Amino acid sequence: MSEDPTQLNPPINLPRHVAIVMDGNGRWAKARNMPRLAGHRKGVNAVRAVVECAGETGIPNLSLFAFSSENWNRPEAEVGGLMSLFMTALTKEVDELQKVGVRLRMAGETSRFSPDLRRQMEIAEKQTAEGTRLNLNICINYGGRWDIVNACRQIVSQGIAPDKIDEKLFSQYLQVPDSGDVDLMIRSGGESRISNFFLWQDAYAELYFTPVLWPDFGKKDFLEALQWYAHRQRRFGKTGDQVQQPN
Ligand code: FPP
Repeated sequence: MSEDPTQLNPPINLPRHVAIVMDGNGRWAKARNMPRLAGHRKGVNAVRAVVECAGETGIPNLSLFAFSSENWNRPEAEVGGLMSLFMTALTKEVDELQKVGVRLRMAGETSRFSPDLRRQMEIAEKQTAEGTRLNLNICINYGGRWDIVNACRQIVSQGIAPDKIDEKLFSQYLQVPDSGDVDLMIRSGGESRISNFFLWQDAYAELYFTPVLWPDFGKKDFLEALQWYAHRQRRFGKTGDQVQQPN
């Protein structure tokens, strides 16, 4: 790929919200006769690379699917290992994230995590709360259907009248509402599905699937996805003639 979106001045047609399903850690490890956790550990490097690249290119919102509501069904050792990995990453990376202007937030049902991990999540969120360069949403014990049900519960519990409920109001009750709808959804690891990630927010997302396994996913792969997105024609229900052609 010869074009490099970091070189576009001003950047054109960049997505405002990129969401990533980070898949393929287990297969990466298996191919090397390593435990699955080694793949997850290596996956943290890929997280660092995309966060840096999102900051450099000027993408304002990045959401990473780190642990789904269904991931509790994995072997206990893997779940425990992932929890330690989250704890270590949160503790180690928070100073740097704050320094470069990242605002870190957790999206999902965090009540199921250990008190120590929850405390660390709160510390990281508070410490980075003033960041204005990039909203980084870590989706953890997150499920798109849960997000919608959770929003309904809040709306009902606040006694909001049915005729006051519209799409705009509803979306304000979803997780990280200020990140807005997803423009570009990336999934690594070769599968072509959404896996219950951001169902409402994905309504008009461009879907980019790559066979690259997450631990191998680097800046080059992220830039390729951005370049692909830059040439998509987003119609939002209109005809091709009604919308402007992308550059
Ligand atoms: C899916 O790959 C990956 C996960 C369930 C975990 C993702 C976690 C990380 C990348 C670790 C760090 C994250 C943060 C935010 C610090 P898989 O295990 O399903 O892979 P497979 O399909 O090859 O088995």
